[in-house]
Amino acid sequence: MKLTFVIVAIALATAAGLTPKETAAGRKLYVEKCGRCHKFHKIEKYPEPAWNMWLGQMIVKTKLTPEQADLLTRYLQSLRASHAENGASGGAAQP
Ligand code: HEC
Repeated sequence: MKLTFVIVAIALATAAGLTPKETAAGRKLYVEKCGRCHKFHKIEKYPEPAWNMWLGQMIVKTKLTPEQADLLTRYLQSLRASHAENGASGGAAQP
């Protein structure tokens, strides 16, 4: 189940314009850094301005370098984009 999610997330993020290497690195950052204090919040449940506000605060809390922050931001945006596509086509592959 968990592995399926990883594979689907990587496939979708790759489709959204990140290289496979960036997707893997972005996902690793997210899992290692953002899961430390709380559960994973679903990006698609937040309007974009609210998410950007939270992410800005969390990047400070997580003490990411500017490069890590950029990669993580793009990785998470790719997840939002893939959720939007799934919603439009009615074929939601992710929880
Ligand atoms: C040092 C602990 C810590 C880390 C690391 C952390 N968070 Fe948080 N997060 C919190 C706390 C505490 C809150 C509750 C709001 C507050 O006090 O700022 C929160 C709240 C949030 C919220 C808002 C939840 C709501 O109420 O809707 C989101 C979204 C979020 N975090 C995402 C992230 C992401 C993405 C990362 C990785 C970049 C991350 N967090 C890393 C501690 C952390």
